[in-house]
Amino acid sequence: QQLEIKLEMLEKGGYEHFMLKEIYEQPRSINDCMRGRIYPLEGKIQLGGIKEYAEKFKNAHRIIIVACGTSWHAGLVGEYLIEEYARIPVEVEYASEFRYRNPIISENDIVIAISQSGETADTMAAIEMAKSKGATIFGICNVVGASIPRLSDAGMYTHAGPEIGVASTKAFTAQVTALTLMAFYMAEVKGTLPKTKLIALLSELERIPSLVEKALESDKLILEIAEKFKDSRNALFLGRGSGFPVALEGALKLKEISYIHAEGYPAAEMKHGPIALIDEEMPVIVIATKNSSYEKVISNIQEVKARKGIVVAIVTEGDTDVVKMADYSIEIPASDEAFLPLLATIPLQLLSYHIAVLRGCNVDQPRNLAKSVTVE
Ligand code: G6P
Repeated sequence: QQLEIKLEMLEKGGYEHFMLKEIYEQPRSINDCMRGRIYPLEGKIQLGGIKEYAEKFKNAHRIIIVACGTSWHAGLVGEYLIEEYARIPVEVEYASEFRYRNPIISENDIVIAISQSGETADTMAAIEMAKSKGATIFGICNVVGASIPRLSDAGMYTHAGPEIGVASTKAFTAQVTALTLMAFYMAEVKGTLPKTKLIALLSELERIPSLVEKALESDKLILEIAEKFKDSRNALFLGRGSGFPVALEGALKLKEISYIHAEGYPAAEMKHGPIALIDEEMPVIVIATKNSSYEKVISNIQEVKARKGIVVAIVTEGDTDVVKMADYSIEIPASDEAFLPLLATIPLQLLSYHIAVLRGCNVDQPRNLAKSVTVE
């Protein structure tokens, strides 16, 4: 029995849980996802799997992203990136809804299916339906040789390595990395990004693994914050722009592993409902980094504080304005707005991890959840 325990510790690389190990693996997994695919000096992206489809992307009328769960959140980040840089209209659909509608799909549409496992039943059914209507299917998957890559016309693997924790962490950031590469690739083939900007973005992307490493250094502070909220019954996560899907993912992580009810909301939508829930017991986690929506987020924080909510802000290092208003602040390194989701996700993963552990929950195998959902 002692040997078994030792073996398990070995598998977890000395970490207490697979989830924590996988959170800490992210500098490496993000790097693995971009290895051999980006050439910052030349401003080039090489995606072997989709090379022959350059024309298809150039002429695509629309991209439809289908996915479930955390992968769907990655899809929402993809929407921001592809529309921003490649200027192709994107729709993000829950696979389970998409497949049972009668969606309008043409041969000029590209469907991107995102799935960690590559086996999710609803995502597979959505692909089959889109295929029968003539769309080209790209798969973004983690598990090599799974069903979804086999059903797809082309695609790319995220190369995050095996993810054991049921709640997705490193697979999510790898999916976001893959979508970032796809967005830049499409921008390159469509000519929607000046070469100099693309070079700057790719050079910055290359630094992301080390910036993620830096974001992980807040672990101790996050544990202290987790102590304060371990008995909360509700939590609200707010973000704007690409910070919104990060808020959704932060809320999902907390729900999944700690069983605290949490909601992610676009910060400006708060006044249309969730604001009614805010009182002195409500933790409100806000993505308040220095980017295009900074000023707007500040006024959202003021609205929360005016109702005595407790604000935990994810801020850019060196920030003072938000730090003054918030009850707790967690810094992440400064970077281009394009990479905000990759950095801002890290503290939220750690926060839910620590809260769940403090509540005595089984973080690697939360109740009622499965790693891969192969039934409808
Ligand atoms: C399950 C897992 C989630 C995952 C979702 C989609 O619900 O618990 O972590 O995000 O399925 O799975 P996929 O493998 O398609 O990404």
